[in-house]
Amino acid sequence: MKTYIVGNWKLNFTVGEASIYLHKLLKALPNYRDIEVVVAPSAIALQPLSLQVDRHKMKLAAQNAFYRDYGAFTGETSFSQLRGLADYVIVGHSERRYILKEDDKMIQKKVAAALRNKISPILCIGETESERAFGETADIIRDQLVGGLAEVSDDDLDKVIIAYEPVWAISSTKAAKMASPDEIAEVVRLIQKTLKEIYGVKTAEKVPILFGGSVNSSNAGAYLTVPGINGLLVGGASLILNEFVDIIEIAKRVRS
Ligand code: PGA
Repeated sequence: MKTYIVGNWKLNFTVGEASIYLHKLLKALPNYRDIEVVVAPSAIALQPLSLQVDRHKMKLAAQNAFYRDYGAFTGETSFSQLRGLADYVIVGHSERRYILKEDDKMIQKKVAAALRNKISPILCIGETESERAFGETADIIRDQLVGGLAEVSDDDLDKVIIAYEPVWAISSTKAAKMASPDEIAEVVRLIQKTLKEIYGVKTAEKVPILFGGSVNSSNAGAYLTVPGINGLLVGGASLILNEFVDIIEIAKRVRS
């Protein structure tokens, strides 16, 4: 399985800034076959960047899309419109769950719409600080996983990526804390167990599990060596080119 390094740019960079960043990233990046480098720019930057990107070196992800392919949905972009522009899409990010009020039902439809349009969903799941404090982490993880994957068949599961992002560890969260490798390993075991229960061992083992939450070049090595972790979803640090390139280099070293 490849190691995934995904940069989530969130609401940052103009189209021009995104294009300059991509140009520099492509120059800095060797063609690492075993590392899947992905960046997720704003929706309006996807079309120009899709013409600029070298897909042998890296891929593009959308940060969101709507689950219907067309129709009267003012302001939305569909997965069908993203076909050919993005290879991946982030679905269920905690900022969309809590700020934009997306629930598991909507996330489930988005995962299905992504797969229908041949775009791999990166399904984000994770508990809040108070859910962890009340001992609800296992229930939340299980509910978000089962809910998000409800329409995913056995045949499609190998196109899905799971990202464990504890909300309390995301850098934009007030007083964010760093997750420890042990805390992550425990949740990864739970994710693996749940996937195996639903899909069986062989199918479940094909699903990459990423970690995200205040990842930077100082902690990337430790997070990438957590058992069961196959990559990282990087927010703030992915906006700094040198940091992002360092994280990719660390992933390469950890693998070899
Ligand atoms: P962060 O964001 O790396 O800035 O904590 C991660 C994310 O929200 O995906």
